[in-house]
Amino acid sequence: MKGLVLAGGSGTRLRPLTYTGAKQLVPVANRPILFYVMDNLAGAGISDVGIIVSPESSAEIRAAMGDGARWGARISYIVQDKPAGLAHAVLTAQPFLGDSDFCMFLGDNLIGTKIADAVASFAGSPHLAGSVMLKAVADPSSFGVAEVDDAGHVVRLVEKPKHPKSNLALVGIYLFRKAIFDAIAAIAPSARGELEITDAIGKLIEQGGVVRFDRVTSWWLDTGKKDDLLLANDTVLDDWLVHDVQGDVDAESKISGRVQIGAGATVVRSTIRGPAVIGAGACLIDAKIGPFTCIGDGVRIERSSVDHSVIMEGSRVVDIGRLEDSLIGRRVIVHPGATRRGALSLLVGDDCKIELAKEG
Ligand code: TTP
Repeated sequence: MKGLVLAGGSGTRLRPLTYTGAKQLVPVANRPILFYVMDNLAGAGISDVGIIVSPESSAEIRAAMGDGARWGARISYIVQDKPAGLAHAVLTAQPFLGDSDFCMFLGDNLIGTKIADAVASFAGSPHLAGSVMLKAVADPSSFGVAEVDDAGHVVRLVEKPKHPKSNLALVGIYLFRKAIFDAIAAIAPSARGELEITDAIGKLIEQGGVVRFDRVTSWWLDTGKKDDLLLANDTVLDDWLVHDVQGDVDAESKISGRVQIGAGATVVRSTIRGPAVIGAGACLIDAKIGPFTCIGDGVRIERSSVDHSVIMEGSRVVDIGRLEDSLIGRRVIVHPGATRRGALSLLVGDDCKIELAKEG
């Protein structure tokens, strides 16, 4: 079985971070989301993996993921010329996939379960044309929603229905055989101009294919927006973080709970409450960090308190009373300036969001 990871797309919901970087490389607990995707595929014995990239994100994703040796896998890169939909991405990958069965994994999805069992069960059930994962959610109207029968099969799929007939949302992990290509050939672009994978699976069922589902009972996170990403950090820190302190921590600093500190980091007169991750080469001076906080490599925090936030590589936060619920990109500087009391001076790019404390 081959793997197909979708890491193209435009990432509009995670702007401004996606102007300068791929959303699939945004860190969760200081590791790019795509690393978790590869962990899961490799854990299921899938070692021949194609990654769909966009022309813009291609170089960055190749640099981060390499040839796959880190996972004992071989990665091929497939450029999708425009983000014309998930089913369009599958078509683009047809030369790579050939006649092989494959597991398609959306590159911005994180899941608390290993997919190995679902993959093995699909491989051992040749009568199935496809298999999907479904998760019961409170508000299904923003997802692909499945109607299922008692035999464990999918009957119908509707993309973002106004009046959902079930609460079962389609998780971004799918198992297909080559029959999916005939189904894709028989669909037209949707109202938003994309070749939708939900339509393709619907067509597959119409053409007589049997599509089974597995229910996901663990967490599932789609990291498309800021709050989703902070939640993904909380969840991964909570579930998977292992205490490991490598940097230099002075005697006046206090560390409690599960905390990871990377090599070459310096912690001076600071308090870190886990779960928290401090990247390699970061420098914390008179800082209060955590809980649920990820500080990227080379970040510098001085005389500031940072809680429930993600601060990416090379940024600096100095003399800020308290920063919380924040997602800060790379090489950002946050500090008080020489402006008049009460005035702000900002240099901010497009699509940023700034929330300040109310006066008084
Ligand atoms: P989405 O999150 O549905 O789409 P997007 O990346 O365009 O994001 P936004 O809605 O914020 O603009 O995509 C799910 C995953 O599939 C994501 O990792 C990007 C990838 N993808 C492709 O590889 N090719 C495509 O044509 C599309 C639409 C998405």
